[in-house]
Amino acid sequence: MADLSTIHQPVLVRECVDLVTPALNRPDAVVVDCTLGLAGHAIAFLQAAPQARLVGIDRDEEALGMAAERMKRAGLAKRFVGVHAAFDEFSTVLDGLELNRVDVAFMDLGLSSLQIDETDRGFSYSRDAPLDMRMDTTQDFDAAQILSQYSESELTRIFREYGQERFSRPIARAIVRRRAIEPLKTSRQLSELVDQVVPKSHRAKGNPAKRVFQALRIEVNGELDKLKCTLPQIANRLSVGGRLVVESYHSLEDRTVKTFMAQGLNVDVPADLPVIPDDAQPFFEELTRGAIKADESEIERNSRSAPVRLRGVSLSRELPEHWRDRFDRSAEGGPQTTQHSHRKHDAEKKNDNNNHTGRRA
Ligand SMILES: C[S@@+](CC[C@H](N)C(=O)[O-])C[C@H]1O[C@@H](n2cnc3c(N)ncnc32)[C@H](O)[C@@H]1O
Repeated sequence: MADLSTIHQPVLVRECVDLVTPALNRPDAVVVDCTLGLAGHAIAFLQAAPQARLVGIDRDEEALGMAAERMKRAGLAKRFVGVHAAFDEFSTVLDGLELNRVDVAFMDLGLSSLQIDETDRGFSYSRDAPLDMRMDTTQDFDAAQILSQYSESELTRIFREYGQERFSRPIARAIVRRRAIEPLKTSRQLSELVDQVVPKSHRAKGNPAKRVFQALRIEVNGELDKLKCTLPQIANRLSVGGRLVVESYHSLEDRTVKTFMAQGLNVDVPADLPVIPDDAQPFFEELTRGAIKADESEIERNSRSAPVRLRGVSLSRELPEHWRDRFDRSAEGGPQTTQHSHRKHDAEKKNDNNNHTGRRA
């Protein structure tokens, strides 16, 4: 096997270790890495917390296999369980492992360098490949299907919402026109189309197709919906003193994480209430004072770290019952309630995935 540490360098690994280890300092402490990838962070956590066990979730089977191999080589396999699942199945995964509470939940969102570098998965606008973009290659919904099936207004919405693309409408219109002649099949065809639509005088720095590719990737993988319904599941399963630590790589993810954490950091009552009831006191403590960013030397070594925003909170007391109920409800608002059919496929797939739960990778 190639030396994977040169393929994927974990971002802000020292800072992440410092954030998680205080909650792992007891026998049988459990950390869930919701985005195991090639286990760069996971290995560092287990090495720094010798009493802890780690559950590693990833929707990419190839990554899981490589992570398991790395755990073995590092002599950590006995303290590791790999689970093939999407992280919005967090509660189901824990139930399958008979774990009620966990001490740390960690997320390093987005793609691994392996996924970016794998040309045949179509994530990159700079390499020609089929328009796929699935993190989970067992899912049947891919980017080519979005481009061939979504209406002009749906395409416009995802480019605007998920790509913050200024020329969303003209790009969507050009896609619809083009597919009436022949379907868009490759990343190069899509990049060239965007290049023709976006006026040269209005281009931001970088490749003009960057935002369209980001939007498609988010839509194919249901990234923001999954994140939104996973965070409340995590909060409901943290032990008191347990920690939630998240690395985000674009502003939509970071805003979702920040907004979620803010619910437990602020007092939950009208400003003019004279006495704050116990039940309404904050339940999170901030560990990072805003977001931690990578410094120049890390960005120079690893350009993937440039946009990172690392945030962490700890659960400072038992969650009040009304928050528990509220989080249960927002966790349910995931795949099943969104408008696109592929989310339904994902929900249906849960039964299959559960067969993997607890698989020792
Ligand atoms: C940035 S990489 C993680 C890298 C890892 N921290 C390391 O150091 O090797 C993100 C991983 O999360 C996985 N992932 C992304 N979204 C996911 C989701 N909704 N459910 C499960 N895994 C997901 C991807 O497949 C990818 O392997």
